[in-house]
Amino acid sequence: MTTPRVAVVTGAGSGIGRELALACAREKMAVVISDIETTALAQTRAMLDALGAPCLAQCCDVSNAEDVERLAQASWDKWGGVDWLFNNAGVAVLGNAWDATGADWQWVLGVNLMGVVNGVRSFVPRMLSRGASAHVVNTSSAAGLATLAGSAVYCATKHAVVGFSECLAKDLEQAAAPIRVSVLCPALLPSGIHKSQRNRPASLAGSGPTASAYEERVRAGMAASTIHAADVARMTVEAIHARRFYVIPHHQTGASVERRTQQILDDFQQIHQENIQ
Ligand SMILES: NC(=O)c1ccc[n+]([C@@H]2O[C@H](COP(=O)([O-])OP(=O)(O)OC[C@H]3O[C@@H](n4cnc5c(N)ncnc54)[C@H](O)[C@@H]3O)[C@@H](O)[C@H]2O)c1
Repeated sequence: MTTPRVAVVTGAGSGIGRELALACAREKMAVVISDIETTALAQTRAMLDALGAPCLAQCCDVSNAEDVERLAQASWDKWGGVDWLFNNAGVAVLGNAWDATGADWQWVLGVNLMGVVNGVRSFVPRMLSRGASAHVVNTSSAAGLATLAGSAVYCATKHAVVGFSECLAKDLEQAAAPIRVSVLCPALLPSGIHKSQRNRPASLAGSGPTASAYEERVRAGMAASTIHAADVARMTVEAIHARRFYVIPHHQTGASVERRTQQILDDFQQIHQENIQ
C-alpha cells in the first residue's frame, strides 16, 4: 500500500479550517485535524469519514508549544511525514486600541501569532529532515495587509503573521529547501470567528469594552460576503498548486491594500521632496 499525501489543519473544527480539511480530502490526501473544541472536531471527522479520507483527529491548543509538538509527532508516527501544513486556528477581539487588556493581548497573540510560530517550529524542521517537497499555509487576514478601527489587537497579530510568513519563505528559499509558503488573507466571511470568546481560557478572562458599532460592522461584513469558507479553501488549494504566496480571496482587499500603500508613499514623498527643495 502506498503512503498517502498528508495535510495537517489546525482550527479544523469550524469555518475555514473545516473547509480546508474537506478540500484536502477531495485532493485524496490523508488529513490530520486538530482543534481546541473536541465536539466540533468530531463533527469534522464525521464529514471526512463520509468522504472516505484517512483521518487522525487530535485535540490541540495551538498557543501551547507542547501540544503542537505532540501534534507533529503524532502526524509523523502515523504517516511518516506531512506534505501540507495549515496553521489556521485563530480568534478575535474588538475594541479601541487603548482599551485592550493584558489578557486580550496574551490570548490573541498566543493563538494567532504564537500558534503559527509553534506550527512552524514543530513541523518545518521535521519537513526539512525528510527532504520531500512540502507547503506551509499560514492564515492571516485582510486585516494583516491593511488596518481598520476597532481591531488593533487582531490587526497587530495578523500583520505579524504576514511578516513572519514572508521571512519564513525567504529563509527557506535561502536554504534551497523544497518547502513553499503561502499566507491566506481573507476579508470577513461567515464563520464562528465572531464567537471566539467560546474558546477563551478562564485564566485569560477579562476583555476590554467593545463598542456595539464594531460588532455591527463585523456582522454586516460577514453577511455581505459573497465568498464563503469553502471558496477560500478551494482558492487556497489552487494557490498551493500554482505556488502563489499571497492568497487574497476577496476582491475589495486590493483597494484596501492600495489605499494603505498609497498613504505610506505619499508621506514618504512629502518628506523626501521637502529635503530636496
Ligand atoms: N471568518 C472571517 O471573517 C475571517 C477573516 C479573515 C481571517 N480569518 C482567519 O481564519 C482563521 C479561521 O477562522 P474562522 O473564521 O474559520 O473562525 P472559526 O471560529 O469558525 O474557526 C476557528 C477554529 O479555531 C479553533 N480554535 C480557537 N482557539 C484555538 C486554539 N487555541 N487552539 C486550537 N484551535 C483553536 C476554534 O475552536 C475554531 O474551530 C482564523 O485564523 C481567522 O483569524 C477569518
